[in-house]
Amino acid sequence: MTKSCFNTSFPLTGKTLSPQLMFHNVASNIICQVLFGRRYDYDDDFIKTIVQCFTENAKLANGPWAMLYDTFPMIRSLPLPFTKAFKNVATCQKIAKRVLAEHKRTRVNGEPRDFVDCYLEELEKRDDTTTFSEEQLSMYALDIHFAGTDTTSNTLLTGFLYLMTHPHIQERCQEEIDRVLEGKDHASFEDRNNMPYVQAVLHEVQRVANTVPLSVFHCATTDTELMGYSIPKGTMIIPNLTSVLHEEGQWKSSHGFNPENFLNDKEEFVKPEAFMPFSAGPRMCLGEGLARMELFLISVTLLRKFKFIWPEDAGKPDYTPVYGVTLTPKPYRMKIQLRERQ
Ligand code: HEM
Repeated sequence: MTKSCFNTSFPLTGKTLSPQLMFHNVASNIICQVLFGRRYDYDDDFIKTIVQCFTENAKLANGPWAMLYDTFPMIRSLPLPFTKAFKNVATCQKIAKRVLAEHKRTRVNGEPRDFVDCYLEELEKRDDTTTFSEEQLSMYALDIHFAGTDTTSNTLLTGFLYLMTHPHIQERCQEEIDRVLEGKDHASFEDRNNMPYVQAVLHEVQRVANTVPLSVFHCATTDTELMGYSIPKGTMIIPNLTSVLHEEGQWKSSHGFNPENFLNDKEEFVKPEAFMPFSAGPRMCLGEGLARMELFLISVTLLRKFKFIWPEDAGKPDYTPVYGVTLTPKPYRMKIQLRERQ
C-alpha cells in the first residue's frame, strides 16, 4: 500500500485527479510484495511498463483482433494489431527474467523472502522429472501479477465511481467506519465483522463491477452429461458470470446499485448464493482472500480520511464498462476533500 494514498498531506486534495493509474499501481505493488518481496515507486520503469502492458493486454486478449487471430490461422504472421499483445508479453518476460536473476544471486537457502525464493528453493530440491522450471516460474510470476492487478484495481475504480455518484451511500459508510474505528489508528480486516453496511456496499460494488465477466475459459476433461446436455471431452467452457450476478429472482434488485442486496431485515450482512465474482469450483480465484482484504482495507482507509466528490463539470456519470478480459469503468476524474473529522 502506498504512503501517498494514506497520508493526510495527500497532494491532490481539493483538486480533481484521475484515479486509474493510482489504483493499478496500488494493486500491483501489493502483489509485488508477495512475489518479489518489495514495492516500487510509481515512477519506477518496472511498475510503469508492467502496468501499461497488463492494461493493454486485458483489452487485447478478448477484443476483435484476438477473435480474428483465433479464427483465421493464416493471418497470424501478418503485422496486425494483435502483435502488440505478444510484444507486451515478451517485454514482461524480459523484466521477470531480470528479477529472477537478481533473486538467484541474492537468495539464502532456508530463508525465503517471497514467492520467487520459495519456488527456487523447491526447484533445487526436485529431480529432472519435475514440472518445476525457471521458465514456468517467470510465467507464474507474470500470471499471478496480472491476475492480482487488473482485477482489484478495476473493482476499486468501479467502487469509487458509484460511491462518488451515490453520496448518501458514501456518507453512511463513513458514519459506520468512524463509529467502529473510533480511537484506532488503522483499520484491520477483522473490523469488517462490525461493519455490515460497508460489507454490503463492497459486495454490491463487486456485483455491479462484474470485473471478470466471462471468468477464465475452461475445457471439459472427460465426456460429461449436465442437465440433459452432453458436453464432449475437449469442449471449451465459457462461464457467464454476468448472467448470475444480474439474474432476476436471485437479487432484491438486480439492476442499479443497491447495497440492500446484501442486507437482511435486521440490517445484517448476508451473502446470497448467486454472489460469485470469483467464479466457483476447484479452480475458482486463487487470490479471493487477498482481493477481499485489499478491497476492504483500501476502501475503508480512504473513506475514513477523504470525501470523494463527482466533479461539478464532469456531466452525467456513464456507468457503461469498457469490455475486455476485465471490465473497466470509462476513465473519470474525482475530486477529493480531506474529511473534517480527521
Ligand atoms: C476483485 C478481484 C478479483 C476478481 C474479481 C477475481 C476473479 C477471478 C476469476 C473469475 C477467476 C477465474 C476462476 C476460474 O477459472 O474458475 C480468477 C482466477 C484467478 N485469480 Fe482472481 N480475481 C481477483 C483478484 C485476484 C488476486 C488479487 C489474485 C492474486 C493472487 C488473483 C489470482 C488469480 C489466479 C492465480 C487465478 C487462476 C486460478 C486457477 O486457474 O487455478 N485474483 N480470478
